[in-house]
Amino acid sequence: MVFKVIKMALEISKALNREIENTLKKYPNKEAALLPLLHLLQKEFGYVKKEVMELAAERLDVPYSKVKGVATFYTMYDKKPVGKYHLQICRNISCSLRGAEDVLNSVKEHLNMEVGDTNEKFTLSTVECLGACGTGPVMQVNDDYYEELTPESVKKILDSLK
Ligand code: FES
Repeated sequence: MVFKVIKMALEISKALNREIENTLKKYPNKEAALLPLLHLLQKEFGYVKKEVMELAAERLDVPYSKVKGVATFYTMYDKKPVGKYHLQICRNISCSLRGAEDVLNSVKEHLNMEVGDTNEKFTLSTVECLGACGTGPVMQVNDDYYEELTPESVKKILDSLK
């Protein structure tokens, strides 16, 4: 039996195409624009699926494997669909010493979710260092940071998102 690989093309609006061109212009060479381009495409398509990585590779003239390697290395790129609010809780050393595990347990209990779960509203993930180590425990919700969390304060934040 022969399987035919069908490449799914993404719909690229004129506005998105313009944004891609503007992003590429900011860098000395196309490859240097890989991270911002993935950010832009994630914002547009919701997550970095295979077709998004193929598009990035095509626009940057780099191998698909290069894009995939970068996209899968960084937790900031979602490789599968996420809820309206993507909760990313740091559990690296500074945040852990300041109670990240208790904050995480509070979130899990309050939302009845486990790490890796997605429901209609939330995706719950843990990440390695959000770069705000002095004000941990830290949770990133989409593009916003919440710092110096406690098991109680994080519940109030979650309630405000519901
Ligand atoms: S250790 Fe949590 S932000 Fe760096």
